Amino acid sequence: MLLLRHCRGLTRVGLLKTQRVQLLQGAALPVAVCAGSLCARWGSSHGGHKSGQYQRSHGPNWRHALAGLLAGTGAVLAYGLYHSQTEQAATTIVQPIAPASSLPIYTQDEVTKHRSVEEGVWVTYKGSVYDITEFVSMHPGGDKILLAAGGALEPFWALYAVHSQDHVLEILSEYKVGELSAEDRRKQQSVKSTDPYSTDPERHPALRINSLKPFNAEPPPEILSDNYITPSAIFFKRNHLPVPQVDPKSYLLQVEGVPGGASLSLSLEELKTRFPKHTVTATLQCAGNRRSEMNKVKQVKGLNWGIAAISNATWSGARLKDVLLAAGYRSEVAQQTSHVQFEGLDSDVTGTTYGASIPLNKAVSEEGDVLLAYQMNGEDLPADHGYPVRVVVPGTVGARNVKWLGKIIVSEEESSSHWQQNDYKGFSPATDWDTVDFKSAPAIQELPIQSAITQPVEGAVVERSAEEVTVKGYAWSGGGREVVRVDVSLDGGRTWQVAQLQSSEKGQVPAPSPPPGRAWAWKLWELTAPLPPAVQELEIVCKAVDNSYNMQPDSVAPIWNLRGVLSNAWHRVKVTVKEDEEKQKLL
Ligand code: MTE
Repeated sequence: MLLLRHCRGLTRVGLLKTQRVQLLQGAALPVAVCAGSLCARWGSSHGGHKSGQYQRSHGPNWRHALAGLLAGTGAVLAYGLYHSQTEQAATTIVQPIAPASSLPIYTQDEVTKHRSVEEGVWVTYKGSVYDITEFVSMHPGGDKILLAAGGALEPFWALYAVHSQDHVLEILSEYKVGELSAEDRRKQQSVKSTDPYSTDPERHPALRINSLKPFNAEPPPEILSDNYITPSAIFFKRNHLPVPQVDPKSYLLQVEGVPGGASLSLSLEELKTRFPKHTVTATLQCAGNRRSEMNKVKQVKGLNWGIAAISNATWSGARLKDVLLAAGYRSEVAQQTSHVQFEGLDSDVTGTTYGASIPLNKAVSEEGDVLLAYQMNGEDLPADHGYPVRVVVPGTVGARNVKWLGKIIVSEEESSSHWQQNDYKGFSPATDWDTVDFKSAPAIQELPIQSAITQPVEGAVVERSAEEVTVKGYAWSGGGREVVRVDVSLDGGRTWQVAQLQSSEKGQVPAPSPPPGRAWAWKLWELTAPLPPAVQELEIVCKAVDNSYNMQPDSVAPIWNLRGVLSNAWHRVKVTVKEDEEKQKLL
């Protein structure tokens, strides 16, 4: 045991692994220590142990998961392991891993000594001690993980409660090397852990929660299309971190990096008064909208969004272009720089803020309509949607619409943020977590053509006596491309009918057609059609066409990708036709 305590991480982990195999097989095996054993061990964490059966696992898969688990920056990747239990997950109370009496007892001082790859990287969780050295040495962003080294995991997990699940603990348990001394356990328990989400705002009860902490939720599809402008309370909410508390009086927006310009610092009042107020109606859609359909083909990583991670609002604020001009931007410098980066004021335990960037030409174009919005639907931005200021980048994936905006940086580089570099990118169905190279794919900006059926919902019952069925939904395309047609089928795609498009609130004078390339808002659509005779089930399908004649792909499998983004296949809903009771009796 002494040897065990003094040797380096790999040896310790290898020995433990061997002990476990012995335990499972009920047989004495030679002590084998190798890095490769880790693969075997992780294979078990996905499928559960079968006696003596260790499969090769997907290396980067678990590495990403544990990275998120420890430091938080990769949290979004870790969600994917548990997407099917997300709502439950957020409230799951994790039971401590049962202490194994055969393992050594360590004091907090001993644990604290292990804060580097050289000394071994140890962490504690609920009174147990874990040696995660091997994981750290293999992870490219290892330095972030070291922030948890020598201490307790609880503060990290408080930020990412979604990780507090049995699955994650099972993964962690593979690294267990000992128990924390009783005295140090008591000390740890007496330290009050503060919940970074305790100041998150109240939310509307109608929202369907995908994860509580951080808060991610979408409205039920059947109410999504009831309003052309989505009421803010039910507008989908996509947060990676706790909602920051921003004091509007001391709020300052920093602008820097404009070649030949000067840094600019703007109060909320200055943003509102120095620049003309511009209003745009724009739809925001998360890259993960409709991810649940990809999950049905093959499991992907990410929150299990339905069809409502999309909503439409009016946004008012200063044009980004005007603010950049005030910071000294001149069209002559366009050659010297290519991107505009945004930093949010929401941050993880390491102080890393949410960030993203967009191409400079979108940011400074008169037709780009990029806003530094301080109003949503005519009122101050709600806390969940970025109060006091967020970026609205019409036609561009939700991820670049940075909320709680703190800083704007004009740069030759894209944002270095995790969400720009290692997430929100599309890949081939052939790419898996062993082969993915995030550098090889461009960050998603404009989104493809999209549509979905909001009513009736899957599994609904249509009465035969009604004689007709009304189908409703939304359609939208990225990059300002206008939806020009939506086709609807009641028989799985064999025959089609054209739906009626709606581009304003019902009963209101339709808005004039948007200028070419600036169709930022969705179109709602509706079709009322006779019920086809003699069928007991309808397979309702929709597909949209934009003014570049882009159309949706007919099925999910060919566009499946490991992160479940850009899910825009024809949307299908099955409903039952209920025959009249009288008729049924006759039959
Ligand atoms: N901005 C900050 N600062 N933090 C975030 O977590 N999430 C992004 C984007 N902007 C996010 C952010 C993502 S992924 C999406 S889809 C949209 O905000 C969602 O905007 P909403 O919550 O207003 O619907």
